[in-house]
Amino acid sequence: GAHQLNLEDNVVVKPFEEIPKVKGLFPSLTSLIPFITGKYEQATLHRFFEDRRKEYGFVYREHFGMNGDMVFTSNPYDWEVILRSLGAEDDLERPIWALKAYSKLRNRSLLYIDVVGEEFFERRELMGKMMLRPQKIAKFVPQYSQITDDLLDFIQRKLDKSSDNTIEDFMEDVDRWQFECAGILTLNQRFGFLEDDIQTANPAAYKAYTGAKEFFKTWLDIEIQPQHRTQHTMKWHQFVAASDLIYEGCEELLSQYKLALIEGVEDQVSDAVKLAMIVDTLRASTDTVPTVIFWLMIELANNPDVQEKIYQESKEVLSKDKPLSYKEVNQQHYLKASLKEIHRMRPLVALSMRKLRQDVILPSGFEVPSGTTIGLLTNPYDQSQFFEDSHKMKPERWLRNRETKTEGGCPFGTKDSTEEVIPKFAVLPFGHGPRSCVGRRIAENSILVYTMKLVNKYFIHPVGEFDSYFNLFVKPKGKLNVRLEKRI
Ligand code: HEM
Repeated sequence: GAHQLNLEDNVVVKPFEEIPKVKGLFPSLTSLIPFITGKYEQATLHRFFEDRRKEYGFVYREHFGMNGDMVFTSNPYDWEVILRSLGAEDDLERPIWALKAYSKLRNRSLLYIDVVGEEFFERRELMGKMMLRPQKIAKFVPQYSQITDDLLDFIQRKLDKSSDNTIEDFMEDVDRWQFECAGILTLNQRFGFLEDDIQTANPAAYKAYTGAKEFFKTWLDIEIQPQHRTQHTMKWHQFVAASDLIYEGCEELLSQYKLALIEGVEDQVSDAVKLAMIVDTLRASTDTVPTVIFWLMIELANNPDVQEKIYQESKEVLSKDKPLSYKEVNQQHYLKASLKEIHRMRPLVALSMRKLRQDVILPSGFEVPSGTTIGLLTNPYDQSQFFEDSHKMKPERWLRNRETKTEGGCPFGTKDSTEEVIPKFAVLPFGHGPRSCVGRRIAENSILVYTMKLVNKYFIHPVGEFDSYFNLFVKPKGKLNVRLEKRI
């Protein structure tokens, strides 16, 4: 890009007014014009931000849609200062209009993502008890391991019928696997989604599953296209129908099974909140985990050497005829580095918004007053200043030990020098602080189990490059048809 980030210590601090501002005759429309003229569309919003950075630099100001005047920064050192300044009090009100509108329409409890203040901290405590404690995750890992075995059997049945060892639209199967895992997490129940007939396996779960998938097809439109706020558009009705379907499915599930998420504190939680919790958890894992896996599959397929190293690292543990344990999974250092590398290369979330609660001085060299809304551009930022060969998949860059370090990054790299070069917040897949992702441990462990098992059983043939599109998350464009070769 034209702009280099100034990484010196002695940056001169400039006042807020000097932050480069996007110009235009009608400030409130400027950010919309490139969309109206067709230069960008919703699906290329991440490209829009990338081009803004190239034109205006790492930090700039713009009146942005319905959020008013905002500051945007692509500098990971700024993110650290911003997120740390919010501290433990960070109970931001997320600009999520559509979810709130639906809760109001149907008189439902607000979802976790919507709640603020004391209610938020209570809900966080509840969710965190189940999802963030290693002992809890340790309980799930062997079960996820078995579900993954079932996925591989399901895949093998398909391969047996295929003439060229190819699975068409592989991600459909990953979606089912993911939902099956979420069944264990939320209800301690198997849904049978890896049987051949998904519709009859568990009709209530199937409703929630299709509702969640439909939801993600309309949510972003409702959230960012202003007409839906004032008119009852077709899209709005589709959004409501998808949301209804998730809630109905989840209500039926709760009438059949107990909510495992609140084991031990059942009496303290109202039915409405129980419902909100299961809806939230099933939905929050629906598009997220599979999208990260999609990118990971692409990179593994196109980097056979990385696959081979994951295979070598895990083959001993997997030769035992029993489900994987939490400990075994978390000893896979190369695999964990590979996942971190995917988070770096293909961050799921392109933009995080925060409202400052105090004045800050951004390391980029600007003062920003309390109350300002800042967009952290975590997806399209230029990483070439921090990572060698930033477009290449090199899990080695995250490994601290010297022998493996010689392959990527600095040949004499040690723990200290790595930390000097890479900003702490350069890879921020789950955010930071109290409003960070509550599902991160579950998500990571499920992805690790999945990858170990898949790579152990099959060699994944190269799949070529994939373009990306923005749909709240940044996702690969197209379907994943993948050729698998059985290793054993
Ligand atoms: C690899 C998969 C996932 C990624 C990359 C991811 C990433 C994120 C990010 C970036 C945020 C916003 C953080 C912020 O604003 O600072 C978030 C929030 C959230 N995530 Fe995830 N997530 C993933 C999977 C999951 C799963 C599996 C669950 C549930 C089991 C989940 C539940 C949530 C919830 C409830 C929030 C809202 C937190 C709040 O409002 O305070 N996520 N996630």
